[in-house]
Amino acid sequence: MPEDDRAVRERVRRLIDETGRERTQLLEVLHKVQAEYSHVPRAAAEAIEQEMNVPIADTYGVVTFYDLLSDKPVGRRVLRICEDVTCSLHGAAELAARAERAIGPEGEPSPDGAVSWTRCACLGLCDKAPAALFAEEPLAPLSETAIAKVGEGHA
Ligand code: FES
Repeated sequence: MPEDDRAVRERVRRLIDETGRERTQLLEVLHKVQAEYSHVPRAAAEAIEQEMNVPIADTYGVVTFYDLLSDKPVGRRVLRICEDVTCSLHGAAELAARAERAIGPEGEPSPDGAVSWTRCACLGLCDKAPAALFAEEPLAPLSETAIAKVGEGHA
């Protein structure tokens, strides 16, 4: 087993010790893992299986269901651009194209790992369309200037 995987398993065991071993605490554990590693690595899912008795497939079922979790590394801060109906009518597709130019391909961390961006469903901010979240804080209405600042690390 690579040393990195061993370290991840040990760190996740400590996170579980702090959080709890009940299956109902899986989501809380996964959010902590996501915050620590910018994704849920395989070694973390293995530690969760051992410590919480949650099969790896179940863990990744949860990870792929929730937008705030990821099975591959994302930026430490994520820009989530809503592309649902109302935001689409207010130029979300053009803003997503702007994000790709400013930050890089969707879902991939910037070269320094600081940010990434992704499309998402309605954020409940339709009255401020086009809407986004950045580092889980509302950024609405989203503008090209705001995206440029995110890309430059000034947001
Ligand atoms: S449609 Fe974009 S926030 Fe609701």
